[in-house]
Amino acid sequence: MATPEKLDSLDPAAVQGAVSATYAEGAQAVQAELCCPVDYDPTFLEVLPEEILQRDYGCGDPSRHLRPGETVLDLGSGGGKICYIASQVVGREGRVIGVDMTAEMLDLARRHQAEVAARIGWDNVVFHRGHIEDLALDLDRLGAWLGENPVTDADGIGPLEAERERLRREEPLVADDSVDVVVSNCVLNLVAPERKRQLFEEVFRVLKPGGRAVISDIVADAEVPMELQQDPELWAGCISGALQETAFVRAFEDVGFHGVQILERQAEAWRSVGDIDFRSLTVVAYKSTKGGCAERGQSVIYRGPFHEITAEDGHSYRRGVRTEVCSRTFQWFGREPYAGSFTRLDADGNDVDADLVQAEASSGSCPLPATNGSSNGCC
Ligand SMILES: C[S@@+](CC[C@H](N)C(=O)[O-])C[C@H]1O[C@@H](n2cnc3c(N)ncnc32)[C@H](O)[C@@H]1O
Repeated sequence: MATPEKLDSLDPAAVQGAVSATYAEGAQAVQAELCCPVDYDPTFLEVLPEEILQRDYGCGDPSRHLRPGETVLDLGSGGGKICYIASQVVGREGRVIGVDMTAEMLDLARRHQAEVAARIGWDNVVFHRGHIEDLALDLDRLGAWLGENPVTDADGIGPLEAERERLRREEPLVADDSVDVVVSNCVLNLVAPERKRQLFEEVFRVLKPGGRAVISDIVADAEVPMELQQDPELWAGCISGALQETAFVRAFEDVGFHGVQILERQAEAWRSVGDIDFRSLTVVAYKSTKGGCAERGQSVIYRGPFHEITAEDGHSYRRGVRTEVCSRTFQWFGREPYAGSFTRLDADGNDVDADLVQAEASSGSCPLPATNGSSNGCC
């Protein structure tokens, strides 16, 4: 498909077409201008064929923040590098799902699956064709249906739309509340502006309550002007669709995530176009656990170091001041990323975490979840 000189960035199909055409080429031959050098843990790269290593179009490494046993969804899985690293981190008990829209990229990732699985020692990865802003629709299944029911005139449009809706409803590619961690490496920026909100909502939808998103992406230090958004090469090169840094962090908050943290921020700009600097950012964001907010006489004391903070529940917490909270907030503050920032007291004033730490210390196990992927990170 010939790439247009000017792209209508307000047309999501035009953006998808330009991006997919570029990454179809990038699957077949290395496109140096799409690369942003990343240091992955070399031990996880040993199982990967040269072809996948070379076609690395990432800008960060969200796989560093995974843990054994987790179910992981990789958005825009490309040649499969992050999926195959994740496969090793989550281990035999974990699962990894890669989603990409570009057939050539999926082919690259799938072609090496048996050989990589043999080197790892297990096969817990599956690759699907889909749009990351519409994770309910399985494009492999829709493609198979179209093979048997080709649409040749306007009469075929109705049945096609009905089948698309049926697939979303009855056989969703990624079901609600089904994934422990959503990761993505340099892909969210490639989604058209009009579909960005829907994309973040989809990430939230598929995560289990208490799950998290760990996203590496390119962000800009200013809003990207329309003339840059209309350049098809800059679109595919992770420039045109980059969100302004603050908007990127806000996008997680706006769809209901809490505990959003910047894990990594590239010190030097990766690229500058005009006056705008583009760099990689890795962010983690959490989906709340379910359950209402009941008053049970529980309270917390913020331990510092700041004089006062405001949490996602809208309440402010002064250092050293005992503050009554509802059961949901109480539960939140016992989990990552807040664990350790608050002393949590039950209705009788007992420090529930001190009891837990003491009990677990005598049993020799670890009471709080590790946050850095190491098995002993919390102790
Ligand atoms: C910059 S590459 C990153 C690939 C991979 N994450 C890596 O680390 O090498 C972007 C990938 O996202 C895919 N992609 C872009 N937009 C997409 C969308 N809306 N839905 C699904 N895949 C998409 C492209 O086909 C391409 O494989």
